[in-house]
Amino acid sequence: MSTKTSSLSTFEVRRTDHPVPDTERAALLAAPKFGTVFTDHMARVTWTTADGWHDRRVEPYGPLSLDPACAVLHYAQEIFEGLKAYAHADGSVWTFRPTANAARFARSAQRLALPELSEADFVESLRALVEVDQAWVPRGEEMSLYLRPFMYASESFIGVRAAHEVEYLVIASPVGAYFTGGVRPVSIWVEREYHRAGPGGTGAAKCGGNYAASLLPQTVAYDHGCDQVCFLDARSATYLEELGGMNVMVVDADGTVRTPEVTGAILEGVTRSAVIRLLADAGHTVREAPVALADLLDGIRSGAVAEVFACGTAAVMTPIGRLVGDDFDVTVNGGQAGPVTMAIRTELTDIQYGRRPDRHGWMHRLV
Ligand code: COI
Repeated sequence: MSTKTSSLSTFEVRRTDHPVPDTERAALLAAPKFGTVFTDHMARVTWTTADGWHDRRVEPYGPLSLDPACAVLHYAQEIFEGLKAYAHADGSVWTFRPTANAARFARSAQRLALPELSEADFVESLRALVEVDQAWVPRGEEMSLYLRPFMYASESFIGVRAAHEVEYLVIASPVGAYFTGGVRPVSIWVEREYHRAGPGGTGAAKCGGNYAASLLPQTVAYDHGCDQVCFLDARSATYLEELGGMNVMVVDADGTVRTPEVTGAILEGVTRSAVIRLLADAGHTVREAPVALADLLDGIRSGAVAEVFACGTAAVMTPIGRLVGDDFDVTVNGGQAGPVTMAIRTELTDIQYGRRPDRHGWMHRLV
């Protein structure tokens, strides 16, 4: 491993002596399955109660060595984020609203009793890693370098309290479409028995525990032939919440768009708020209000609901073509992607890939 400190970065760069060879990397970048391929390096910062955040570095990607008593393995004190780096036609590399992710990461840290990482460290960790691994940013249609910042309790201690030692890392993974089969209408299992989050819980935090709670219902969804699961509110099992990894929106035939309000139980999506803004710009009335499942099903059957879609960093905007539950199975918009979904999706991705002006100042240049 050679050690070099970039004069532009507060992150010391320790380059791998064994980068993936160019031809092998090109083959990996051709059609990566979501979340399976990782770049040569990772960014990392260590925190202790005594020294705070220190030892900012970019180092070779590789396994972490964890003591069996490592706190995260027992009590799941962990949070994460998801962003993408996009290659523009002129060779520059950009990301989307990183300060919004930094702010959400800080809120998640607060909820999980983890130390807050500053916005400057968060954004610089992304920039430093992408600068070193810029050859891994894919250039193809719908492709990007998915960035996964995360933080976990690294202290070897099995007493139940907030850890005194924490690690923050960013790993990067070249990706295409999140769902296998590319951008296509997906089917959703609406889960009545299992809930993802409850009042006062961790639903608004992006923590691994929420995703762990979604895995069994996700399996139930697969068993019913569906791609994803949609959760209902834990109090009454009446209102839509979110898909676990994505927010959900409903387009009425009159052009009004409805999406569950952020109540503390659902994730405040960075894509969600951008989509709300683009919909409003396009003249749609957007209502952040409870969406009752019974009303949604009535609306789909009567034609009052025209489209339903999911949105998130990984999924971008994904049309929902079918909703299935224990006593219903309805097709949305004839199982086709709807025009509002696809128009806003095109506008959003055009901004992200630098194909149209960034009028809201959402894009942040990394390299
Ligand atoms: C994202 O959209 O970035 C997510 O975190 C969802 C999922 C891949 C966990």
